[in-house]
Amino acid sequence: MRKLNIAIIGLGNIGSYLFKYLRENKNILTEKNNCVPIVKFVSVKNKKRKRNISIKKIQWLNNYIDATKNKNVDLIVELIGGAEGPAKKLVFNALKNKKHVVTANKALIAKYGDQLSRIAEKNKVNLEFEASVCGGVPIIRSLKEGLIANKISKIHGIFNGTSNYILSSMDKENKNFNEVLLKAKELGYAETNPSADLNGDDVSSKLKILSSLCFNSFLNNNIYVEGIKDIDKSDIDNANKLGYKIKLLGFAELIDNKIYQRVHPALIKKDSYVAGIDGVLNAVIVDGKPIGQSTIQGEGAGPAATTSALISDISSILRGNIKFPFSLSSKKRKKLKFENINERFFSAYFRFEVLDKPGVLSNITNVFSKNKTSIKRLIQNPNKNKKISSVIVITHDSKDKNLNKILKEISKKNYIKRKPKLIRIDD
Ligand SMILES: NC(=O)c1ccc[n+]([C@@H]2O[C@H](COP(=O)([O-])OP(=O)(O)OC[C@H]3O[C@@H](n4cnc5c(N)ncnc54)[C@H](OP(=O)(O)O)[C@@H]3O)[C@@H](O)[C@H]2O)c1
Repeated sequence: MRKLNIAIIGLGNIGSYLFKYLRENKNILTEKNNCVPIVKFVSVKNKKRKRNISIKKIQWLNNYIDATKNKNVDLIVELIGGAEGPAKKLVFNALKNKKHVVTANKALIAKYGDQLSRIAEKNKVNLEFEASVCGGVPIIRSLKEGLIANKISKIHGIFNGTSNYILSSMDKENKNFNEVLLKAKELGYAETNPSADLNGDDVSSKLKILSSLCFNSFLNNNIYVEGIKDIDKSDIDNANKLGYKIKLLGFAELIDNKIYQRVHPALIKKDSYVAGIDGVLNAVIVDGKPIGQSTIQGEGAGPAATTSALISDISSILRGNIKFPFSLSSKKRKKLKFENINERFFSAYFRFEVLDKPGVLSNITNVFSKNKTSIKRLIQNPNKNKKISSVIVITHDSKDKNLNKILKEISKKNYIKRKPKLIRIDD
Protein backbone atom coordinates (compact mmCIF):
# COMPACT_ATOMS: atom_id res chain seq x y z
CA MET A 1 0.00 0.00 0.00
CA ARG A 2 1.30 3.51 -0.88
CA LYS A 3 1.95 5.90 2.03
CA LEU A 4 1.91 9.68 2.25
CA ASN A 5 3.93 11.34 5.02
CA ILE A 6 2.31 14.51 6.31
CA ALA A 7 3.67 17.40 8.43
CA ILE A 8 1.05 19.59 10.12
CA ILE A 9 2.46 23.03 10.89
CA GLY A 10 0.23 24.90 13.36
CA LEU A 11 -1.92 23.10 15.92
CA GLY A 12 -4.30 25.88 16.90
CA ASN A 13 -8.08 25.78 16.43
CA ILE A 14 -7.87 24.08 13.06
CA GLY A 15 -4.60 22.14 13.25
CA SER A 16 -5.45 20.31 16.49
CA TYR A 17 -8.87 19.25 15.13
CA LEU A 18 -7.28 18.02 11.89
CA PHE A 19 -4.61 16.11 13.84
CA LYS A 20 -7.29 14.26 15.83
CA TYR A 21 -9.45 13.64 12.75
CA LEU A 22 -6.55 12.07 10.85
CA ARG A 23 -5.73 9.78 13.76
CA GLU A 24 -9.34 8.64 14.23
CA ASN A 25 -10.17 8.25 10.53
CA LYS A 26 -6.90 6.87 9.16
CA ASN A 27 -8.40 3.53 8.13
CA ILE A 28 -11.40 4.83 6.22
CA LEU A 29 -9.26 7.46 4.46
CA THR A 30 -6.79 4.72 3.51
CA GLU A 31 -9.57 2.53 2.10
CA LYS A 32 -11.20 5.36 0.17
CA ASN A 33 -7.97 6.75 -1.27
CA ASN A 34 -5.88 3.60 -1.55
CA CYS A 35 -3.01 5.30 0.27
CA VAL A 36 -2.13 5.60 3.98
CA PRO A 37 -2.03 9.12 5.45
CA ILE A 38 0.68 9.23 8.13
CA VAL A 39 1.10 12.29 10.33
CA LYS A 40 4.88 12.09 10.57
CA PHE A 41 5.66 15.52 12.04
CA VAL A 42 4.08 18.55 13.67
CA SER A 43 5.31 22.00 14.65
CA VAL A 44 3.94 24.95 16.62
CA LYS A 45 5.26 28.25 17.95
CA ASN A 46 5.20 27.34 21.63
CA LYS A 47 5.84 23.64 22.24
CA LYS A 48 5.16 24.02 25.96
CA ARG A 49 1.54 25.15 25.52
CA LYS A 50 -0.97 22.65 26.93
CA ARG A 51 -2.90 20.95 24.10
CA ASN A 52 -5.80 18.50 24.16
CA ILE A 53 -4.05 16.11 21.78
CA SER A 54 -1.31 13.60 22.48
CA ILE A 55 1.74 14.02 20.31
CA LYS A 56 4.60 11.53 20.30
CA LYS A 57 8.07 12.87 21.00
CA ILE A 58 9.37 11.76 17.61
CA GLN A 59 6.63 13.73 15.84
CA TRP A 60 7.91 17.12 17.03
CA LEU A 61 10.10 19.13 14.67
CA ASN A 62 12.60 21.52 16.21
CA ASN A 63 11.66 24.23 13.74
CA TYR A 64 8.72 24.45 11.31
CA ILE A 65 11.02 25.12 8.35
CA ASP A 66 12.70 21.71 8.85
CA ALA A 67 9.57 20.12 7.33
CA THR A 68 10.45 21.65 3.96
CA LYS A 69 13.89 19.94 3.91
CA ASN A 70 13.00 16.57 5.41
CA LYS A 71 13.08 13.63 2.97
CA ASN A 72 10.37 11.88 5.01
CA VAL A 73 7.79 14.58 4.32
CA ASP A 74 5.59 14.43 1.19
CA LEU A 75 2.86 16.88 2.16
CA ILE A 76 2.92 19.99 4.36
CA VAL A 77 -0.35 21.28 5.81
CA GLU A 78 0.12 24.97 6.64
CA LEU A 79 -2.21 26.09 9.45
CA ILE A 80 -0.31 29.07 10.86
CA GLY A 81 -2.16 31.87 9.07
CA GLY A 82 -1.24 35.33 7.76
CA ALA A 83 0.00 36.45 4.35
CA GLU A 84 3.55 37.11 5.53
CA GLY A 85 5.98 35.73 8.12
CA PRO A 86 6.34 32.00 8.84
CA ALA A 87 3.32 30.91 6.76
CA LYS A 88 4.73 32.58 3.62
CA LYS A 89 8.25 31.24 4.22
CA LEU A 90 6.91 27.75 4.87
CA VAL A 91 4.73 27.49 1.76
CA PHE A 92 7.27 29.03 -0.66
CA ASN A 93 10.04 26.75 0.64
CA ALA A 94 7.82 23.67 0.69
CA LEU A 95 6.86 24.07 -2.97
CA LYS A 96 10.43 24.92 -4.02
CA ASN A 97 11.54 21.68 -2.30
CA LYS A 98 8.85 19.69 -4.16
CA LYS A 99 6.52 19.08 -1.23
CA HIS A 100 2.75 19.10 -1.77
CA VAL A 101 1.01 21.87 0.19
CA VAL A 102 -2.50 22.10 1.64
CA THR A 103 -3.44 25.38 3.29
CA ALA A 104 -6.46 27.13 4.82
CA ASN A 105 -4.78 30.52 4.48
CA LYS A 106 -6.91 32.86 2.31
CA ALA A 107 -4.68 35.88 3.00
CA LEU A 108 -1.61 34.06 1.66
CA ILE A 109 -3.35 32.62 -1.41
CA ALA A 110 -5.10 35.92 -2.26
CA LYS A 111 -1.73 37.71 -2.15
CA TYR A 112 0.80 35.18 -3.42
CA GLY A 113 -1.37 32.50 -5.08
CA ASP A 114 -0.15 33.30 -8.62
CA GLN A 115 3.54 33.05 -7.69
CA LEU A 116 2.95 29.93 -5.60
CA SER A 117 0.99 28.16 -8.32
CA ARG A 118 3.82 28.75 -10.83
CA ILE A 119 6.29 27.07 -8.46
CA ALA A 120 3.90 24.17 -7.78
CA GLU A 121 3.34 23.60 -11.50
CA LYS A 122 7.06 23.78 -12.31
CA ASN A 123 7.84 21.23 -9.58
CA LYS A 124 4.80 19.05 -10.34
CA VAL A 125 3.37 19.17 -6.82
CA ASN A 126 -0.07 20.12 -5.56
CA LEU A 127 -1.06 23.37 -3.93
CA GLU A 128 -4.58 22.97 -2.54
CA PHE A 129 -6.61 25.62 -0.69
CA GLU A 130 -10.25 24.48 -0.46
CA ALA A 131 -10.33 25.42 3.26
CA SER A 132 -9.31 29.00 2.52
CA VAL A 133 -12.73 29.94 1.15
CA CYS A 134 -16.00 29.43 3.06
CA GLY A 135 -14.81 26.61 5.37
CA GLY A 136 -16.93 23.53 4.80
CA VAL A 137 -18.61 24.79 1.61
CA PRO A 138 -16.77 22.86 -1.14
CA ILE A 139 -16.83 25.70 -3.66
CA ILE A 140 -13.25 25.46 -4.95
CA ARG A 141 -13.45 21.77 -5.80
CA SER A 142 -16.90 22.41 -7.31
CA LEU A 143 -15.49 25.11 -9.59
CA LYS A 144 -12.45 23.02 -10.55
CA GLU A 145 -14.28 19.71 -11.04
CA GLY A 146 -18.06 19.51 -10.68
CA LEU A 147 -18.72 22.72 -12.63
CA ILE A 148 -15.78 22.37 -15.06
CA ALA A 149 -18.15 22.32 -18.05
CA ASN A 150 -19.43 25.80 -17.40
CA LYS A 151 -18.69 29.27 -18.68
CA ILE A 152 -19.26 31.21 -15.50
CA SER A 153 -20.75 34.69 -15.65
CA LYS A 154 -21.22 35.46 -11.97
CA ILE A 155 -20.37 34.24 -8.49
CA HIS A 156 -21.81 35.86 -5.42
CA GLY A 157 -22.98 35.21 -1.91
CA ILE A 158 -22.29 35.37 1.78
CA PHE A 159 -18.64 34.51 2.38
CA ASN A 160 -18.16 35.64 5.99
CA GLY A 161 -19.96 33.95 8.88
CA THR A 162 -19.03 36.54 11.54
CA SER A 163 -20.55 39.50 9.72
CA ASN A 164 -23.58 37.45 8.73
CA TYR A 165 -24.08 36.46 12.37
CA ILE A 166 -23.84 40.13 13.42
CA LEU A 167 -26.30 41.40 10.80
CA SER A 168 -28.84 38.64 11.36
CA SER A 169 -28.64 39.02 15.17
CA MET A 170 -29.12 42.79 14.93
CA ASP A 171 -32.24 42.02 12.94
CA LYS A 172 -33.68 39.19 15.02
CA GLU A 173 -32.60 40.08 18.55
CA ASN A 174 -33.25 43.79 18.33
CA LYS A 175 -29.71 44.68 19.44
CA ASN A 176 -27.23 47.26 18.19
CA PHE A 177 -23.92 46.56 16.45
CA ASN A 178 -21.67 46.74 19.53
CA GLU A 179 -23.90 44.50 21.68
CA VAL A 180 -24.00 41.84 18.98
CA LEU A 181 -20.25 42.05 18.30
CA LEU A 182 -19.59 41.45 22.01
CA LYS A 183 -21.82 38.38 21.96
CA ALA A 184 -20.12 37.10 18.78
CA LYS A 185 -16.77 37.32 20.60
CA GLU A 186 -18.16 35.48 23.65
CA LEU A 187 -19.45 32.68 21.40
CA GLY A 188 -16.12 32.43 19.60
CA TYR A 189 -17.58 33.56 16.23
CA ALA A 190 -15.51 36.74 16.16
CA GLU A 191 -11.81 36.93 16.91
CA THR A 192 -10.36 39.28 19.56
CA ASN A 193 -9.40 41.52 16.66
CA PRO A 194 -12.29 41.05 14.23
CA SER A 195 -11.31 43.90 11.88
CA ALA A 196 -10.81 41.73 8.75
CA ASP A 197 -14.30 40.28 9.22
CA LEU A 198 -15.92 43.66 9.76
CA ASN A 199 -14.10 45.81 7.18
CA GLY A 200 -14.68 43.40 4.28
CA ASP A 201 -11.03 42.30 3.87
CA ASP A 202 -11.79 38.66 4.66
CA VAL A 203 -14.50 38.52 1.96
CA SER A 204 -12.24 40.41 -0.43
CA SER A 205 -9.48 37.75 -0.16
CA LYS A 206 -12.00 34.96 -0.74
CA LEU A 207 -13.62 36.74 -3.67
CA LYS A 208 -10.27 37.31 -5.43
CA ILE A 209 -9.55 33.58 -5.23
CA LEU A 210 -13.03 32.63 -6.45
CA SER A 211 -13.12 35.08 -9.32
CA SER A 212 -9.73 33.97 -10.65
CA LEU A 213 -11.08 30.39 -10.69
CA CYS A 214 -14.37 31.43 -12.34
CA PHE A 215 -12.83 33.58 -15.07
CA ASN A 216 -9.51 31.69 -15.62
CA SER A 217 -7.66 34.86 -14.80
CA PHE A 218 -4.78 35.81 -12.52
CA LEU A 219 -5.64 37.20 -9.09
CA ASN A 220 -6.74 40.80 -9.41
CA ASN A 221 -6.72 43.56 -6.81
CA ASN A 222 -9.20 45.83 -8.57
CA ILE A 223 -11.98 45.28 -6.07
CA TYR A 224 -14.40 47.61 -4.29
CA VAL A 225 -14.45 46.76 -0.57
CA GLU A 226 -16.75 48.08 2.13
CA GLY A 227 -17.55 46.35 5.43
CA ILE A 228 -20.40 46.43 7.90
CA LYS A 229 -18.86 48.71 10.56
CA ASP A 230 -21.22 51.62 9.83
CA ILE A 231 -24.46 49.64 9.59
CA ASP A 232 -26.83 51.01 12.16
CA LYS A 233 -29.75 49.25 13.83
CA SER A 234 -31.98 51.89 12.20
CA ASP A 235 -30.77 50.75 8.74
CA ILE A 236 -31.79 47.18 9.55
CA ASP A 237 -35.23 48.38 10.74
CA ASN A 238 -35.71 50.67 7.73
CA ALA A 239 -34.75 47.84 5.37
CA ASN A 240 -37.29 45.57 7.06
CA LYS A 241 -40.07 48.10 6.64
CA LEU A 242 -39.20 48.42 2.95
CA GLY A 243 -39.25 44.63 2.41
CA TYR A 244 -35.47 44.06 2.47
CA LYS A 245 -32.72 42.44 4.57
CA ILE A 246 -29.14 43.74 4.78
CA LYS A 247 -26.36 41.24 4.04
CA LEU A 248 -22.62 41.60 3.46
CA LEU A 249 -22.16 40.18 -0.03
CA GLY A 250 -19.27 39.49 -2.36
CA PHE A 251 -19.81 39.66 -6.15
CA ALA A 252 -17.61 38.86 -9.13
CA GLU A 253 -19.41 39.19 -12.44
CA LEU A 254 -18.78 39.38 -16.15
CA ILE A 255 -20.85 42.09 -17.86
CA ASP A 256 -20.23 43.08 -21.51
CA ASN A 257 -16.78 41.48 -21.39
CA LYS A 258 -15.79 43.46 -18.30
CA ILE A 259 -15.23 41.88 -14.88
CA TYR A 260 -16.33 43.64 -11.72
CA GLN A 261 -15.41 42.56 -8.18
CA ARG A 262 -17.16 44.12 -5.20
CA VAL A 263 -17.75 43.51 -1.51
CA HIS A 264 -20.31 45.61 0.33
CA PRO A 265 -23.46 45.45 2.43
CA ALA A 266 -26.53 45.27 0.21
CA LEU A 267 -30.28 45.49 0.61
CA ILE A 268 -31.79 42.33 -0.82
CA LYS A 269 -35.44 41.29 -1.10
CA LYS A 270 -36.69 39.60 2.09
CA ASP A 271 -38.08 36.64 0.15
CA SER A 272 -34.83 35.98 -1.79
CA TYR A 273 -32.80 32.83 -1.11
CA VAL A 274 -29.78 34.74 0.26
CA ALA A 275 -31.94 36.76 2.69
CA GLY A 276 -32.81 33.49 4.44
CA ILE A 277 -29.17 32.55 5.12
CA ASP A 278 -28.72 33.56 8.74
CA GLY A 279 -26.20 33.19 11.56
CA VAL A 280 -22.71 31.91 10.78
CA LEU A 281 -23.77 30.17 7.56
CA ASN A 282 -22.21 30.94 4.19
CA ALA A 283 -23.83 30.56 0.77
CA VAL A 284 -22.25 30.68 -2.68
CA ILE A 285 -24.31 31.11 -5.85
CA VAL A 286 -22.75 30.43 -9.24
CA ASP A 287 -24.35 31.47 -12.56
CA GLY A 288 -23.04 29.77 -15.66
CA LYS A 289 -23.75 27.98 -18.89
CA PRO A 290 -24.99 25.31 -19.31
CA ILE A 291 -25.80 24.84 -15.62
CA GLY A 292 -27.92 27.94 -15.08
CA GLN A 293 -27.66 28.62 -11.38
CA SER A 294 -26.05 26.42 -8.75
CA THR A 295 -25.96 27.07 -5.01
CA ILE A 296 -23.99 25.62 -2.11
CA GLN A 297 -24.48 26.61 1.51
CA GLY A 298 -23.00 25.49 4.81
CA GLU A 299 -20.84 26.30 7.81
CA GLY A 300 -18.30 28.88 6.71
CA ALA A 301 -15.75 28.47 9.49
CA GLY A 302 -14.80 26.59 12.64
CA PRO A 303 -12.56 23.56 13.12
CA ALA A 304 -15.07 20.90 12.01
CA ALA A 305 -16.14 22.54 8.74
CA THR A 306 -12.58 23.62 7.91
CA THR A 307 -11.25 20.11 8.55
CA SER A 308 -13.85 18.74 6.13
CA ALA A 309 -12.32 20.96 3.44
CA LEU A 310 -8.73 20.09 4.42
CA ILE A 311 -9.49 16.36 4.22
CA SER A 312 -10.96 16.83 0.75
CA ASP A 313 -7.63 18.38 -0.36
CA ILE A 314 -5.52 15.78 1.45
CA SER A 315 -7.58 12.98 -0.12
CA SER A 316 -7.03 14.39 -3.58
CA ILE A 317 -3.27 14.21 -2.95
CA LEU A 318 -3.54 10.72 -1.42
CA ARG A 319 -5.16 9.58 -4.67
CA GLY A 320 -2.15 10.90 -6.52
CA ASN A 321 -3.67 13.49 -8.79
CA ILE A 322 -1.35 16.34 -9.73
CA LYS A 323 -3.53 19.30 -10.68
CA PHE A 324 -3.10 22.92 -11.59
CA PRO A 325 -3.78 24.92 -8.40
CA PHE A 326 -6.06 27.38 -10.24
CA SER A 327 -7.59 24.74 -12.51
CA LEU A 328 -5.64 25.92 -15.56
CA SER A 329 -1.90 26.10 -16.25
CA SER A 330 -0.40 29.49 -15.35
CA LYS A 331 0.61 29.73 -19.02
CA LYS A 332 -3.06 29.57 -20.02
CA ARG A 333 -4.54 31.80 -17.31
CA LYS A 334 -5.46 35.23 -18.65
CA LYS A 335 -4.57 38.80 -17.71
CA LEU A 336 -8.13 40.09 -17.91
CA LYS A 337 -9.22 43.67 -17.43
CA PHE A 338 -11.09 44.19 -14.18
CA GLU A 339 -13.14 47.39 -14.07
CA ASN A 340 -13.94 49.43 -11.01
CA ILE A 341 -17.61 49.95 -10.21
CA ASN A 342 -17.78 53.75 -10.74
CA GLU A 343 -19.65 53.46 -14.01
CA ARG A 344 -21.94 50.63 -12.90
CA PHE A 345 -25.59 51.31 -12.22
CA PHE A 346 -27.22 50.54 -8.87
CA SER A 347 -30.35 51.58 -7.11
CA ALA A 348 -29.59 52.65 -3.57
CA TYR A 349 -30.84 53.35 -0.07
CA PHE A 350 -29.75 56.58 1.66
CA ARG A 351 -30.27 57.46 5.30
CA PHE A 352 -29.91 61.08 6.39
CA GLU A 353 -30.51 62.51 9.84
CA VAL A 354 -31.18 66.21 9.44
CA LEU A 355 -32.40 69.30 11.27
CA ASP A 356 -36.16 69.45 10.94
CA LYS A 357 -36.47 72.86 9.30
CA PRO A 358 -37.91 74.29 6.07
CA GLY A 359 -35.80 73.99 2.93
CA VAL A 360 -33.82 70.88 3.95
CA LEU A 361 -35.87 68.42 1.95
CA SER A 362 -35.79 70.52 -1.22
CA ASN A 363 -32.02 70.92 -0.82
CA ILE A 364 -31.61 67.15 -0.56
CA THR A 365 -33.75 66.46 -3.63
CA ASN A 366 -31.83 69.13 -5.57
CA VAL A 367 -28.53 67.37 -4.87
CA PHE A 368 -30.02 64.12 -6.21
CA SER A 369 -31.25 65.72 -9.42
CA LYS A 370 -27.95 67.63 -9.91
CA ASN A 371 -26.21 64.24 -9.79
CA LYS A 372 -28.55 62.67 -12.36
CA THR A 373 -30.23 60.38 -9.83
CA SER A 374 -33.99 60.09 -9.70
CA ILE A 375 -35.80 59.31 -6.48
CA LYS A 376 -38.14 56.33 -6.33
CA ARG A 377 -39.30 56.75 -2.70
CA LEU A 378 -38.69 59.29 0.03
CA ILE A 379 -39.76 58.67 3.62
CA GLN A 380 -39.51 61.29 6.32
CA ASN A 381 -39.76 60.50 10.05
CA PRO A 382 -39.70 63.70 12.08
CA ASN A 383 -38.89 63.74 15.79
CA LYS A 384 -40.67 66.92 16.90
CA ASN A 385 -39.14 66.95 20.40
CA LYS A 386 -35.54 66.78 19.18
CA LYS A 387 -36.29 68.92 16.10
CA ILE A 388 -34.59 66.40 13.88
CA SER A 389 -35.88 64.20 11.13
CA SER A 390 -34.66 61.02 9.51
CA VAL A 391 -34.96 61.00 5.74
CA ILE A 392 -34.80 57.73 3.82
CA VAL A 393 -34.36 57.88 0.06
CA ILE A 394 -34.63 54.96 -2.34
CA THR A 395 -33.30 55.76 -5.81
CA HIS A 396 -33.79 54.40 -9.29
CA ASP A 397 -30.67 52.99 -10.99
CA SER A 398 -27.85 55.49 -11.13
CA LYS A 399 -24.08 55.41 -11.72
CA ASP A 400 -22.15 54.43 -8.60
CA LYS A 401 -19.98 57.53 -8.91
CA ASN A 402 -23.10 59.73 -8.83
CA LEU A 403 -24.44 57.94 -5.74
CA ASN A 404 -21.14 58.59 -3.98
CA LYS A 405 -21.09 62.25 -5.04
CA ILE A 406 -24.53 62.67 -3.48
CA LEU A 407 -23.35 61.10 -0.23
CA LYS A 408 -20.25 63.29 -0.13
CA GLU A 409 -22.07 66.51 -0.95
CA ILE A 410 -24.93 66.03 1.52
CA SER A 411 -22.53 64.87 4.28
CA LYS A 412 -21.00 68.38 4.27
CA LYS A 413 -24.30 70.26 4.73
CA ASN A 414 -24.74 72.02 8.03
CA TYR A 415 -28.23 70.56 8.48
CA ILE A 416 -26.74 67.03 8.78
CA LYS A 417 -26.81 65.75 12.38
CA ARG A 418 -25.16 62.34 11.92
CA LYS A 419 -22.94 60.60 9.36
CA PRO A 420 -25.27 59.63 6.47
CA LYS A 421 -25.29 56.11 5.00
CA LEU A 422 -25.52 54.79 1.45
CA ILE A 423 -26.28 51.10 0.88
CA ARG A 424 -26.61 49.64 -2.60
CA ILE A 425 -29.72 47.61 -3.42
CA ASP A 426 -29.32 44.28 -5.17
CA ASP A 427 -32.56 43.18 -6.75
N1 LIG B 1 -10.50 29.37 12.68
C1 LIG B 1 -11.32 29.19 11.63
O1 LIG B 1 -12.53 29.01 11.76
C2 LIG B 1 -10.73 29.14 10.24
C3 LIG B 1 -11.57 28.85 9.14
C4 LIG B 1 -11.02 28.76 7.86
C5 LIG B 1 -9.67 29.00 7.69
N2 LIG B 1 -8.88 29.29 8.77
C6 LIG B 1 -7.45 29.51 8.56
O2 LIG B 1 -6.72 28.46 9.17
C7 LIG B 1 -5.44 28.93 9.57
C8 LIG B 1 -5.23 28.59 11.05
O3 LIG B 1 -6.25 29.21 11.82
P1 LIG B 1 -6.46 28.88 13.37
O4 LIG B 1 -7.77 29.49 13.73
O5 LIG B 1 -6.21 27.45 13.64
O6 LIG B 1 -5.27 29.75 14.01
P2 LIG B 1 -4.65 29.66 15.47
O7 LIG B 1 -5.60 28.99 16.41
O8 LIG B 1 -4.12 31.00 15.80
O9 LIG B 1 -3.39 28.64 15.29
C9 LIG B 1 -2.20 29.04 14.69
C10 LIG B 1 -1.16 27.98 14.95
O10 LIG B 1 0.04 28.34 14.29
C11 LIG B 1 1.13 28.12 15.19
N3 LIG B 1 2.26 28.98 14.83
C12 LIG B 1 2.34 30.31 14.88
N4 LIG B 1 3.58 30.70 14.50
C13 LIG B 1 4.28 29.58 14.23
C14 LIG B 1 5.60 29.30 13.83
N5 LIG B 1 6.48 30.28 13.64
N6 LIG B 1 5.98 28.00 13.66
C15 LIG B 1 5.11 26.99 13.86
N7 LIG B 1 3.83 27.18 14.26
C16 LIG B 1 3.43 28.45 14.44
C17 LIG B 1 0.57 28.43 16.56
O11 LIG B 1 1.39 27.86 17.54
P3 LIG B 1 1.02 27.92 19.11
O12 LIG B 1 -0.16 26.97 19.27
O13 LIG B 1 2.22 27.45 19.82
O14 LIG B 1 0.65 29.35 19.38
C18 LIG B 1 -0.81 27.78 16.44
O15 LIG B 1 -0.75 26.43 16.77
C19 LIG B 1 -5.43 30.43 9.25
O16 LIG B 1 -4.85 30.63 7.98
C20 LIG B 1 -6.91 30.79 9.18
O17 LIG B 1 -7.18 31.92 8.36
C21 LIG B 1 -9.38 29.35 10.03
